[in-house]
Amino acid sequence: MHRFQINSYPAYQKAYKRSIEEPEAFWDEIASSFVWRKKWTKTLEWDFTKPEVKWFQGGQLNITENCLDRHLEKRANQTALIFEPNNPNDAAQYFTYKALHSKVCQFANVLKANNVKKGDRVCIYMPMVPELTFAVLACARIGAVHSVVFAGFSAAALSARINDAACKVLLTADGGFRGDKITPLKSIADDALKTCPSIEKTIVLNRTNSEVIMQANQVWWHEELSKVDDNCPVEIMDAEDMLFILYTSGSTGKPKGMVHTCGGYMVYTAYTFRNVFQYRSSRAVTLGREATRAGGPDVYWCTADIGWITGHSYIVYGPLANGATTVMFEGVPSYPDYGRFWEICEKHKVNQFYTAPTAIRALAKHPINLAENYNLKHLKTLGTVGEPINDEAWNWYNDYVGKGKCPIVDTWWQTETGGIMISSLAGVTRSKATYATLPLPGIQPVLLDENGEEIVGNPAQGILAIKFPWPSIARTIYGNHERYKNVYFSAYKGKYFPGDGALRDEVGDYRITGRVDDVIIVSGHNLGTAPIENAINEHEAVVESAVVGFPHDIKGNALYAYVILYDGYTASDELLQSIRQKVADTIGPIAKPDKIQFTQGLPKTRSGKIMRRILRKIAHNDTTNLGDTSTLLNPEVVQSIIDDAI
Ligand code: PRX
Repeated sequence: MHRFQINSYPAYQKAYKRSIEEPEAFWDEIASSFVWRKKWTKTLEWDFTKPEVKWFQGGQLNITENCLDRHLEKRANQTALIFEPNNPNDAAQYFTYKALHSKVCQFANVLKANNVKKGDRVCIYMPMVPELTFAVLACARIGAVHSVVFAGFSAAALSARINDAACKVLLTADGGFRGDKITPLKSIADDALKTCPSIEKTIVLNRTNSEVIMQANQVWWHEELSKVDDNCPVEIMDAEDMLFILYTSGSTGKPKGMVHTCGGYMVYTAYTFRNVFQYRSSRAVTLGREATRAGGPDVYWCTADIGWITGHSYIVYGPLANGATTVMFEGVPSYPDYGRFWEICEKHKVNQFYTAPTAIRALAKHPINLAENYNLKHLKTLGTVGEPINDEAWNWYNDYVGKGKCPIVDTWWQTETGGIMISSLAGVTRSKATYATLPLPGIQPVLLDENGEEIVGNPAQGILAIKFPWPSIARTIYGNHERYKNVYFSAYKGKYFPGDGALRDEVGDYRITGRVDDVIIVSGHNLGTAPIENAINEHEAVVESAVVGFPHDIKGNALYAYVILYDGYTASDELLQSIRQKVADTIGPIAKPDKIQFTQGLPKTRSGKIMRRILRKIAHNDTTNLGDTSTLLNPEVVQSIIDDAI
């Protein structure tokens, strides 16, 4: 068994206790199982009031040596990366650790040849293709700071992110395949580049054979590759050197460039990957198309995009630091049909499957035989991330995908936390519908009342905060430490404030109740949108819903619900009343929405979050200034909601 694998409930309890009583000794031990060029001299220095957090100071390392080089002795011929293309008729690609190492070194040399140096920022705006993984790791290998921008973002969003970090080089592709569409990445990038003076060079991958016009200082990826070899020693990094910047939207203002550093991020993502998913590696075996996997390592698949933190931590760094086999998928769950995820699970004999509740709800809406037609017998662990998962979706996932045999890990964390914070460990600690359950070793959550006082004892409900640092906490917002302090450390002195609410049940399991900034006060009662939505979603006719507030003469605020119905249900007054009644039955009459609008879709961000800001405006009957809707997954839905608004 792996050195830091927790394999029983008592072992979890023991690890947790030690992580609280002796945090430094606890993390020292875990960090020792990595390759360091120089051992650290000070494990932790922190002060949440400044705020300042430093882990493993004095230590030197390169994360790619841990993700690649050190596996070459035993796993050179094991598959590191499986690439499943958008089109199911195209062949999957398999990269062994040896091949991945070579690809990364080669591209690192391309970056060097294009004048990228340690500390330079490199913006990556690419589709989900293997070259994206190579590029991320190539940056890390030479000490350049990657800033991956999700390939669904608009030119304006891309330009804002490039400029915020003054990136020197842009990596992009001619286009990206998504279902039956091609995203014209190069032309979007060119638009962005009109306002990006810091970019000196753009390297363009040919993915879709789209016609593109190369401009000055733009070069082809494959031509650059042909000029270099694959010998690239690692840049030695200090533990607290910057590894990457990743942008996350704030509740106000421009996006925040969260900064993650090399040492702590590596240690924490690797530790949590292994334990949450209970990933099992094994002796080195050759994994190819035909090869048998008896006794081989697990195959793990996270459906996120590398443009988000989930992809950074749990497609790339966490799995590779563990010598795992990780799948990356270029396409979408609906192409060529809603059976695609299950087809991929069958084809690659996926053992751990990690996705978002929004995907589960979309899949659950389609005929069940799309899941049942495929052999899912290799699945051992199911995971979810990104938003609270409602009972119905959890049960569907459990019954139809896991067949009641796979523990579900509901993983609560954030871009800012770098790694999973609260989650069960698959099959080791209990899983419970809609509960993230227990904090991981090293994580000290507390619930606070509205005065910021810690609520002791169970059950309890309040504002979630974390009172002790963990190795992968973001160190700052790039270029704006003051904002970092204001957003995360000012609301509750001496504590990290994630912006979520939670409840803790009798046995101490946490359930995330949703953002605390989405609370609506109705007739003086605090109502969270998430529990109301959960109640509405429990109705048999409902796929998904979103609740916002709108001004009301008597109550102050009233509730406006946007509701998507399952096929086969039609909007009627009777249905409307029964949904209101469902909410009244679940939460109380006070939570009954005043208005319910049936809609075909909800405006969503690329990471699947509902854009409440837009829904709120529509509910307020103020559609004059909806702001930038170009970054939405489905901008077209906005007009239809406006047209049908009540
Ligand atoms: O509100 C929480 C929700 O997503 C937020 C973080 O979003 P982001 O930085 O985009 O990272 C998403 C992927 C880690 C959190 O503040 N969230 C995330 N996971 C869960 C969740 N809410 C409930 N349950 C979860 N498992």
